[in-house]
Amino acid sequence: MSKTERFLMAGVMGWPVMHSRSPLMHNYWFAQQGLAGTYVPLAIRSGNLAAALRALYPLGFAGCNLTIPHKQDAMAIVDEVDDVARKIGAISCVVVRGDGSLFGTNNDWLGFIGNVKEREPAWRADAGPIAVIGAGGGARAVCYALLREGAREIRLINRTPERAEAVAAALGGPIRLLPWAERHDALANVAMAVNVTSQGMVGLPALDLQLDALPKTALAADIIYTPLETPFLAAARARGNRTLNGLGMLLHQGPPAWKLWFGIEPTVTVELREKMEKSIGS
Ligand SMILES: NC(=O)c1ccc[n+]([C@@H]2O[C@H](COP(=O)([O-])OP(=O)(O)OC[C@H]3O[C@@H](n4cnc5c(N)ncnc54)[C@H](OP(=O)(O)O)[C@@H]3O)[C@@H](O)[C@H]2O)c1
Repeated sequence: MSKTERFLMAGVMGWPVMHSRSPLMHNYWFAQQGLAGTYVPLAIRSGNLAAALRALYPLGFAGCNLTIPHKQDAMAIVDEVDDVARKIGAISCVVVRGDGSLFGTNNDWLGFIGNVKEREPAWRADAGPIAVIGAGGGARAVCYALLREGAREIRLINRTPERAEAVAAALGGPIRLLPWAERHDALANVAMAVNVTSQGMVGLPALDLQLDALPKTALAADIIYTPLETPFLAAARARGNRTLNGLGMLLHQGPPAWKLWFGIEPTVTVELREKMEKSIGS
């Protein structure tokens, strides 16, 4: 097979995966770049991940993204895991190298910070304390990004305290752990509050968080993008806070993956964002 053919294919492995918006996004970029390429959803059950990843090279894939339930399991399968993925504890992007070996990294943190910078150019991580509510995989990527950007105080709050302790131990830095019962008051004098729990997703209850202590100047962010506006964001917007939804995090982890797979960095355009918003609906 020629090099060119191998470099024009990628996909996302998950289970379930057919709901994924990643193909829409990546196939938009193939058109934007004038390239004949394809990005496909790959419905892979947990037990089949190793075989599926090893099949990427003979199938001519440049790499793939990973989503639920594969992000942690891939760590023990790929040939090399970089420091970022190790710290975050999950692989979001696999790269097939020229010799067929597999390299795993995590671009979710770049997605989060890329979106913040696109939407809020004046934003600074060291502008004030940042409350992060939740301590799962998404929280690790968000905290990693905030620390890399120079955050001076992250107030990390999770329903299950042990999980927050594990995040703080893995990432180090100025992470302050606060009990779940103090989550409402923990918003006092923050510059930013981020929901990284699954609460507020379509089909799940809203995040139980009172915003009275949240300064009106604070930025409220959610990493959920179904719905585009979670109850947390709607409540923040209603009281005058600036808000950021989770779609941009998905959009902005794409270009770094392309750079690794194809050596090209496509752009997150207004047209792409609108296409994705339309596909998600409200
Ligand atoms: N925009 C993006 O690109 C992007 C990337 C990654 C994730 N996400 C989204 O982010 C969300 C979280 O994903 P994840 O991978 O971090 O999930 P996860 O690892 O399963 O973590 C879930 C988090 O939600 C908390 N939680 C669950 N039920 C709760 C409840 N009833 N009350 C309070 N907290 C509760 C959990 O707390 P406990 O530890 O106490 O269970 C944990 O902190 C999902 O909606 C996911 O789709 C978006």
